[in-house]
Amino acid sequence: MTRDNLKIGLFGYGCVGQGLHDVLNSSKGFKADIVKICVKNPGKPRRLPMSSFTYDKYEILDDPSINLIVELINDADDAFDIVATAMKNGKNVVSANKLMIATHFRELVDMQKRYNVSFLYEASAGASIPIIRNLEEYYDNELLYSLRGILNGTTNYILTSMYNKGTNYESALAEAQQKGFAEIDPTLDVEGWDAKYKLCILTGHAYGVFLDPADVFHHGIKTITKHDIQYAREKGYKIKLVSYVGKTDENHITAFVLPRFIAADKNFYNVDYEYNGVIAEAAFADRQFFYGKGAGGHATGSAVFSDISANSYGYRYEYKKMRQELVPEYTLDHKIEVYVRYSDDKTADLFNFEDVSECFRSKEYKYIVGTLNLKKLFDIKELIFDRDIFIVNTGRKFTD
Ligand code: HSE
Repeated sequence: MTRDNLKIGLFGYGCVGQGLHDVLNSSKGFKADIVKICVKNPGKPRRLPMSSFTYDKYEILDDPSINLIVELINDADDAFDIVATAMKNGKNVVSANKLMIATHFRELVDMQKRYNVSFLYEASAGASIPIIRNLEEYYDNELLYSLRGILNGTTNYILTSMYNKGTNYESALAEAQQKGFAEIDPTLDVEGWDAKYKLCILTGHAYGVFLDPADVFHHGIKTITKHDIQYAREKGYKIKLVSYVGKTDENHITAFVLPRFIAADKNFYNVDYEYNGVIAEAAFADRQFFYGKGAGGHATGSAVFSDISANSYGYRYEYKKMRQELVPEYTLDHKIEVYVRYSDDKTADLFNFEDVSECFRSKEYKYIVGTLNLKKLFDIKELIFDRDIFIVNTGRKFTD
């Protein structure tokens, strides 16, 4: 395919689809022709003539003149079906669907090879931050110690509003929804699922490991209270939801998603509102910090646009780390120090801390700071889910 014969079939015309459309329209150097847009709801008012749309996916998938499918819909099952059919039909694909990619990662990579097509998804993690391509190209042979990221714009928006303006949680979430940052089901954001899917995708490119999201511990921010913010502020920290993957030894990596205390001298401290940040720690490049908008139609649309352009000159991910001799194994055996705020004393006992460095109990506010193994957190995840309990990685020990 060359830049001159790029014919796009677009699936979805929501926040990101419209953002992409704006980006494409403003581009001077690169033109691409959107042949048809497939949408679900015929009754919804659109800002383009109705002739631009179809409600039948096969009108696009079976059209031999369309050589690139851009998938920007919400439903992960429908998205997988569209992407898989497109690849089988020999079409290149660009997608931003993190849930769909993370839960079918190996299958999609295999299909891409089998059908000899390109499958690009830079917008699926960190939106406007070109982190996947950097992991593929710049870090292809680099020994990566760790990769950590603020990868969810919605939770970062909520945490920033609560910290800076004293906004309550519900209003901050409503603002994030209204600005188009949140998922249609915002529990994916606030419970940490979205940050985990993105982490699994980045781990594939950073270490060549396909993590099953079910094997990765995550804890979001939906139980945060003003007491947690107050504790952080008094110690000079902000709280950010951080996705982490890193080496525990030569042959192993660990991964988890947890809120984390961030001191004022750290790169993440000023990553606020819908911005995302990624820090790579590597043997030779040392520390590198990527920063940019992590949610929103135009920010995400710009990453999709970049993939469309890359596709037009034949770019493909090579998954170089997967082909290296020593692909690390995944482990949950990793110590972390956490702050746990709780209301029910029995809940605190579940943690069975190896050692406790701080403990405080008043009538309305109780917390423990202690060390435990990530495996322990993973084992009690069903028991602590949906309880009034907030966990923060102190970052003071074991993981910088
Ligand atoms: N809901 C996601 C976020 C959108 O808030 O980061 C971008 O992936």
